[in-house]
Amino acid sequence: MNNTIHNILKEHYDNPFGPIGWKVFVEEIKQVCYKKNQFVEFQNGFKEALQKVYKEYISSNEDDKIELYSQRVSEIVLRFSDFEKQEGPVVCEEYSPEMQMEILGLDLETIKQPVLDIGCGETGGITRYLRKAGISAFGMDRIVEKEKFLIQADWLKTKFGKDKWGTVISHMAFTNHFIFQHKYVGGKPEEYAQAYMEILGSLKVGGEFYYTPDLPFIETILPKDKYSITKKAIRDDIYSVRITRLK
Ligand SMILES: C[S@@+](CC[C@H](N)C(=O)[O-])C[C@H]1O[C@@H](n2cnc3c(N)ncnc32)[C@H](O)[C@@H]1O
Repeated sequence: MNNTIHNILKEHYDNPFGPIGWKVFVEEIKQVCYKKNQFVEFQNGFKEALQKVYKEYISSNEDDKIELYSQRVSEIVLRFSDFEKQEGPVVCEEYSPEMQMEILGLDLETIKQPVLDIGCGETGGITRYLRKAGISAFGMDRIVEKEKFLIQADWLKTKFGKDKWGTVISHMAFTNHFIFQHKYVGGKPEEYAQAYMEILGSLKVGGEFYYTPDLPFIETILPKDKYSITKKAIRDDIYSVRITRLK
């Protein structure tokens, strides 16, 4: 982690970005953290603290400034995030499109368009796969390659729209994080519940939301006249889910 921060600082020293340098820097540091720990969230004040340190770094004349400021940036990351508090595997993993199709029970012949993949992964694998098959598909993630059909955004800050999508997909992404926030002391399950309801509202009537893992604590309270739920066991107590909007 420290090495990567060091390299980013060096790059900004060797090739200064000018007035927007601090914004680029903040984004780069966030992306590094997301890749190391997909559950990491930053508290208010993080951006401002980094901006201040960055400006001091750029104008500093100290010989060992890259070392010195790598340390300071690491301290800010730890102070303003829950980076080190989590247990278990937290790095981002991407799964093959074929495997995601199989697990979610998606079918190229019947999938309803347009499609949105929430937390599509950096390469947007399933989005590319669907587009290759002639399907109108888009992906969103907070880390994505630059493509016109891949949107870089945070799902808690995204407007999913209303009556818009034929299919929404989220494989090992949104609901995995929802569960984490539900269990994690100091988590924000309410914000996830609100986003979940917005995602359901973004489906067209007859549209479908496919995801895994399942969310029994919220699925059981969805109005039955509005949503139908189909679950498929993946292994032990993990399910993939299809929710259809009925009206
Ligand atoms: C385990 S990966 C799964 C990627 C893909 N769905 C797949 O199955 O290959 C989870 C993804 O969720 C993304 N993610 C995590 N938090 C996010 C957030 N707040 N907003 C948008 N994407 C997020 C991560 O960047 C990561 O790409």
